[in-house]
Amino acid sequence: MEEIIWKDEFSVGIARMDEQHKKIIAMINRLIREQKVVTEPETVAKLLTEMTDYTREHFRAEEYLMSEYGYNRKDHQVKRHKEFIKKTMDFCSASNVGPNILSVALLEYLSTWLVDHILTEDMQYKAFFEEKGVV
Ligand SMILES: [Fe+2]
Repeated sequence: MEEIIWKDEFSVGIARMDEQHKKIIAMINRLIREQKVVTEPETVAKLLTEMTDYTREHFRAEEYLMSEYGYNRKDHQVKRHKEFIKKTMDFCSASNVGPNILSVALLEYLSTWLVDHILTEDMQYKAFFEEKGVV
């Protein structure tokens, strides 16, 4: 399982959102690395919780910005964000029963979803916020 490498094309044009996306990517990459070594399940659970909590915070910040400027695709974003959190939690509770709580399926889901979300849905707000002067 490959780590995610940040590319300039991931930039949504708002510095703090890019920073938050980079931090989430770093947290997912840390989990990808953990999967290759034998780690205490508690450590993995802690990292996973930290990643989910931070992502939740990021979604809140993004949604707040969308409300503030009246972005018309906010509802869709909120829906997608909720789906991500729910799916991640479902994965966690399902895999918690086994010894290998970090399944490749979960990591693949996390990295594919995030990159895809940034490149498609988040990218749609780039021009909108640029026009509003949000950098
Ligand atoms: Fe988003």
